[in-house]
Amino acid sequence: MDIKGCIFDLDGVVVDTAKYHYLAWKKLGAELGFDFTEQDNERLKGVSRMRSLDILLEIGGLTISQEEKEAAATKKNEWYLEFIHQMQPDEILPGVLDFFNQLKENNIKIALGSASKNAVLILDILKIKDYFDVIVDGNSVSKAKPDPEVFTQGAEKMGLTAAECVVFEDAEAGVEAAKNGGMRCVGIGEQDVLSLADVVVSGFTEFNIENLKAL
Ligand code: BG6
Ligand code: MG
Repeated sequence: MDIKGCIFDLDGVVVDTAKYHYLAWKKLGAELGFDFTEQDNERLKGVSRMRSLDILLEIGGLTISQEEKEAAATKKNEWYLEFIHQMQPDEILPGVLDFFNQLKENNIKIALGSASKNAVLILDILKIKDYFDVIVDGNSVSKAKPDPEVFTQGAEKMGLTAAECVVFEDAEAGVEAAKNGGMRCVGIGEQDVLSLADVVVSGFTEFNIENLKAL
């Protein structure tokens, strides 16, 4: 098989933290005086914290100073962390650990490619950090998805070429980033949102090592 490494986005692929991001942004929106819907939240998936805040403010029709933005982003993150600290390992999405174990048995490397600055903390809380040969997160990249930097770094750190890697992503910007980096991509979610992916599945109960080999 030509696939030697798999790169996983975190939020929405390994664990459903998207709901906690959403609740924290919604709380910030409410405090700023506007409603933030679940549909609006789709635009924040895969997007960095500060860029997410800009989108939120655009939705609310608000302009605030840089200083106020920093304070708002910090506040949102504190609320988000309260949820994260209550998370349990059973919130790992169905089939993920099985798939990780299949990759290990087949000597396929595992990398994380996440925009989140909280990624390592989340892996620690879920007790799955040891599965990862390489971790690239929001602290190590300078360009956000759909720029491929997060995945390109992941491949390089695994010592692999883009063609040897497959990316797993739930966000439109993330699928675009994988394709921009010349990698194959499995979309986790809806076909109409992730149409650029090579294949779209609803989750890892629908995807195993045989499906990977057939990509
Ligand atoms: C991505 C999420 O993984 O990380 C985004 O999909 C989030 O919704 C981004 O904004 C940054 O996360 P954090 O934890 O650094 O605020
Ligand atoms: Mg995601």
